[in-house]
Amino acid sequence: MRFIESVEELELRLATPSVRDLDSIRRIEGDLIVLGAGGKMGPSLARRIQRAAKEAKASLRVFAVSRFSSADRAKELTREGIETIACDLLNRDEVRKLPLCANVLFLSGRKFGSTDRPDLTWATNTMIPAHVASHYRASRIVVFSTGNVYPQVKLDSGGSLEGDAPCPVGEYAQSCLGRERVFEYHSQRHGTPCLLFRLNYAVDLRYGVLVDIARKVYAGEPVDLTMPAFNVVWQGDANSYALRCLEYCTSPARPMNVTGPEIVSVRRAAEFFAREFKREVLFRGEESERALLSNASLCHSLLGYPEVALGELFAWVAHWVARGGESLNKATMFEVANGRF
Ligand SMILES: NC(=O)c1ccc[n+]([C@@H]2O[C@H](COP(=O)([O-])OP(=O)(O)OC[C@H]3O[C@@H](n4cnc5c(N)ncnc54)[C@H](OP(=O)(O)O)[C@@H]3O)[C@@H](O)[C@H]2O)c1
Repeated sequence: MRFIESVEELELRLATPSVRDLDSIRRIEGDLIVLGAGGKMGPSLARRIQRAAKEAKASLRVFAVSRFSSADRAKELTREGIETIACDLLNRDEVRKLPLCANVLFLSGRKFGSTDRPDLTWATNTMIPAHVASHYRASRIVVFSTGNVYPQVKLDSGGSLEGDAPCPVGEYAQSCLGRERVFEYHSQRHGTPCLLFRLNYAVDLRYGVLVDIARKVYAGEPVDLTMPAFNVVWQGDANSYALRCLEYCTSPARPMNVTGPEIVSVRRAAEFFAREFKREVLFRGEESERALLSNASLCHSLLGYPEVALGELFAWVAHWVARGGESLNKATMFEVANGRF
């Protein structure tokens, strides 16, 4: 197996378009804008699209919008030919000045700190969608959402399906359902084609559920079993799905679960890393019979399985953590079962 040895290699891997991406971008008409591009996923997503456009000789402009509190991040994107715009999406007047594009990938959101500032979480996750859905009513929009809109389900259920009733636990998850509802309303009202991209845990080696577990095991800290299982997907695959979902936007808006095909046991994952690191594994908490799980068979049937298999992802994470690879120090808090982030 070929491992990833450096941040440069990781960035390259995340941003290299697949054959499917190239096919899709050849069919997509019009410019593309990524809103909320300054976070964990946006930069590699924007770069992947820009590279796909270049390789496919597709003549579209790619814009990346965020507050860009880190100016370096904006500069890195500009160097690649992406047009960056600093904008506070909470400000409706600023949103109205954004260039109209046929294709929108909406990533903006707020999760951590939701317990301390629920007002800011609700504003970010529901007011920004209102500004964006109104300004981009003539576009097609892939709206990043989360599997947290579902209730926790039994481990043998196979995970929640798109047709299951949402039942979000806690204010973060409730505000994410609010985000979906705002886009659904505008989709109905203006006929805007939308897809609600219910993502469960992207892994990029610097962060993600597998990384959280691996780092705990490596440091000899106990792994919490309260949330006993999870789904994950390689961030490069999540990026690819996001781009290709533009072709599946509909009015009324349709939800789509986006994650890998496996339900992964926290205990088994920790035991794997313990073997790799030759360490003892410590556990804490009671394993519940329920977990936050999604069934992404619709995504896989329309867009194919992820290109990076779960076993490969495990091996990459183990190698990265053991060699002291960079961490964003942003824990996913996947073990939180009461919805308080
Ligand atoms: N990563 C995952 O595994 C995962 C799982 C489920 C769902 N999601 C959802 O997928 C989306 C993208 O994920 P992510 O991990 O990249 O999230 P993230 O790291 O939180 O990035 C979201 C970005 O949105 C931007 N933003 C927030 N408020 C803004 C404002 N007022 N104006 C302009 N930009 C604003 C921020 O960039 P600036 O600071 O530059 O403004 C922020 O970095 C998020 O909505 C997240 O909730 C992610």
